[in-house]
Amino acid sequence: MKYVIGIDLGTSGTKTVLFDTLGNVVASHTVEYPMYQPQNGWAEQDPRDWANAALETLKKVVSESGVDNSDILGIGISGQMHGLVMLDENGDVIRNSIIWCDQRTAKECEEITQRVGAKRLIEITANPALPGFTASKILWVRNNEPQNYSRCRKILLPKDYVRYILTGEFATEVSDAAGMQLLDIGKRCWSDEVLEKLDIDKSLLAKCYESVEVTGGINKKTADYTGLKEGTIVVGGAGDNAAAAIGTGVVEDKKAFTTIGTSGVVYAHASKIAIDPKGRVHTFCSAVPGEWLVMGVTQGAGLSLKWFRDNFCNAEIETAKQMNVDPYYLMDKEVDTVMIGANKLLYLPYLMGERTPHLNSDARGVFFGLSAMHTKKDMLRAVMEGVSYSLKDCVSVLNEMGLEISDMMACGGGGTSSVWRQMLADLYACPVKTITSKEGPALGVALLAAVAAGVYPSVQEACAAVVKVKNEQQPVAENTEQYKKYYEIYKRLYLSLKDDFSALGSLK
Ligand code: XUL
Repeated sequence: MKYVIGIDLGTSGTKTVLFDTLGNVVASHTVEYPMYQPQNGWAEQDPRDWANAALETLKKVVSESGVDNSDILGIGISGQMHGLVMLDENGDVIRNSIIWCDQRTAKECEEITQRVGAKRLIEITANPALPGFTASKILWVRNNEPQNYSRCRKILLPKDYVRYILTGEFATEVSDAAGMQLLDIGKRCWSDEVLEKLDIDKSLLAKCYESVEVTGGINKKTADYTGLKEGTIVVGGAGDNAAAAIGTGVVEDKKAFTTIGTSGVVYAHASKIAIDPKGRVHTFCSAVPGEWLVMGVTQGAGLSLKWFRDNFCNAEIETAKQMNVDPYYLMDKEVDTVMIGANKLLYLPYLMGERTPHLNSDARGVFFGLSAMHTKKDMLRAVMEGVSYSLKDCVSVLNEMGLEISDMMACGGGGTSSVWRQMLADLYACPVKTITSKEGPALGVALLAAVAAGVYPSVQEACAAVVKVKNEQQPVAENTEQYKKYYEIYKRLYLSLKDDFSALGSLK
């Protein structure tokens, strides 16, 4: 038997999984690390924590699996996107990484838009300047910490710093590089025009590969520490969402996935580049060579249900403890007893503002239509329906751009709820499926390694061999009709409240 490894560098921890070449898990290990929030809206992590976690988890899976290291064909790395890692001339970390959810760079986003031009920026980088993306973080360090900027010799993304530790190579790949806002997304290479206009020296950036290409081999130091064989290939890998797409088989047009994690993601594969001129969704390069992805991101998906559980569901939490089940299981059962429309109660899930489709950080959560007859279970159903409407909003933008979706996979914690999946199926009017493997991003990049090692001739063929559908929920036409009426009101509510969100936000 031969094996491949996927490393998934997340925000709460790094998970490394050793798979056989059919995608079965042989060994898996996770190491967690902290996130630092030195000021409101800031988010940083120490890249050395990521490197240690990768080395530790690699060592564990190699030793626990007991496999011969020469049977490990290759390694792929997936990771949180957008984070800024700066290295000095010795390859040492200059400052903590400013990561994807950090919001400090509003001023730098204006600077980028002004230097490049709003229209030109979207034409080249496929996205408007957003605080989450790396370019604005680079400018922030230049504007606020010039001493750190002047010492910087290399700029890497989180997973690419781990690659550097494992292989000694400065390399990235198109799916993650796309989130830096320095890549020409159509041409899949660094944009000289954007770099010049932003006055960023190209030599600071890593060499950019396709996700499936070999970027180097495990160096001696890593081999000695982890038990891996020196020279084991490390492929480009992918940003976390692009990696999850491979792990769920979303590698062809009309295929998509919805993730209900803390945030919500609706991701569609696109064999041709598609850009939303209004910038409501992100267009990045896909990990499938020469193809793209378009994804809508919402801020308060699983977060909404968690917020409701933590503040109003003590009884469910207690009962769940006694029954030794998850409180979400009991909450699901309650929701299933309430009719579509939650007895005419609607919820807007904007607890943390909203990205797609509103791009409005002032938006806030709303229950609309409360009556004395409502009980907690109506509110629970309204929360799950409201999150589903926000995901339907993402699908609507994708459809508007000409991306049809006929096949939707459900991922993330919320994707394990059959009640929630049925809501999505009814609202999207398309089947919603789950797959057997739970390892999304780690499996995705392990498959990229398997392709590079010659086990499979292409990414699509790797997915066809490995990714298996577990269950499929069909839309019910009658439900789709009922949801339509509520969804129309849901959409109007944001428009009615938009000015009041701003007024509330500007109160001192
Ligand atoms: C994508 C995004 C997140 C991060 C962290 O644009 O911000 O998905 O990759 O998971």
